[in-house]
Amino acid sequence: MTPTLETRLHDAVSKVRQYWRGTRFLDGLEPGIEGTQALLDVARIYRAYRLEIGRMRLLQGRAVAGLFFDPSLRTHTSMEVAAGRLGAHFVHLVGGQDTWKMEFAEGTVMDGMAAEHVKEAAPVLSSYADVLAVRAFPKHGGRDETVIRAFARYAGAPLINLESALAHPCQGLADMLTLADLGGGSYLGKKVCLSWAPHPKPLPQAVPLSVVRAAILGGADLHVACPEGFDLDDEEMERAQSFCHDTGAKMTVTRDQMAATQGAIAVYGKGWGARDYDRHADLAAAHRGWTIGDTQMEGANAFLHCLPVRRNVIVSDSVIDGPKSRVIPQAANREPVQAAVLLSWML
Ligand code: CP
Repeated sequence: MTPTLETRLHDAVSKVRQYWRGTRFLDGLEPGIEGTQALLDVARIYRAYRLEIGRMRLLQGRAVAGLFFDPSLRTHTSMEVAAGRLGAHFVHLVGGQDTWKMEFAEGTVMDGMAAEHVKEAAPVLSSYADVLAVRAFPKHGGRDETVIRAFARYAGAPLINLESALAHPCQGLADMLTLADLGGGSYLGKKVCLSWAPHPKPLPQAVPLSVVRAAILGGADLHVACPEGFDLDDEEMERAQSFCHDTGAKMTVTRDQMAATQGAIAVYGKGWGARDYDRHADLAAAHRGWTIGDTQMEGANAFLHCLPVRRNVIVSDSVIDGPKSRVIPQAANREPVQAAVLLSWML
């Protein structure tokens, strides 16, 4: 007998739980290799049958609180839509506007602007919501990731990082789904290029590091191209590299952008800051030729970017408007992967 859609979904979620019992999705590596593949299977079922699944109201009565200290188009909308489609209530909070200004430091005399400590805010939000999701860019604590780590410490509810200084795990999971689509179901052993591209601002490394983790978790032949002075964070790269042995992935870091793009199933363009932050603008300007254009895409299959993207700075109009651009289906994949995480915790 063919299993019903609900049975298929329950079975797929049970498989995730076999591998992933944790309640933190902070850098994207937590579900492990098998758990991540199982999450992608849930996402594929959701993507194929989201209207039918929506009618099931599987998470009715549940609540998700999304706390944003920084702006968002995709992350906010796709989280709220995923939660809503599954029947859960989504509460959108802008940190410091919809909430009191928060304090994160230990032992502070709170006689300044901050009216509430995360030690109370995180457990209180956890008492209302079944899942918390938090976005806080590096200006809220830099490489220390003060905000997301404080929530991880004090929140009793499961917690999703919606982008911090070093990780954007939901973007990474969506990128895995997109890369697998481009690879015909899997990108194991397939060449993937992550290319630095010029941007006037020294952007954080959350997305490029998540692309590295995503490529390695799926066993890609990853080529990271960047000019000298723009190498990604050593510690995070070493940590990602340590998964290569188990996934069969390979990682090459190169200064040769053209060689990196040749034969790639995807060129993922992304700007990030120079190691010497103060000289970023000058260093980036010296590499304007790294904008992803038709020449870079000649030997590659598809162009990816997490969005938002600066046209004719990161990527030419001709590429992003052209037949190789997959940025819209890539962004669309955010909803099913986030739904998969919510289902894995709450179904
Ligand atoms: N890619 C992404 O996270 O987009 P937003 O910043 O608009 O959420």
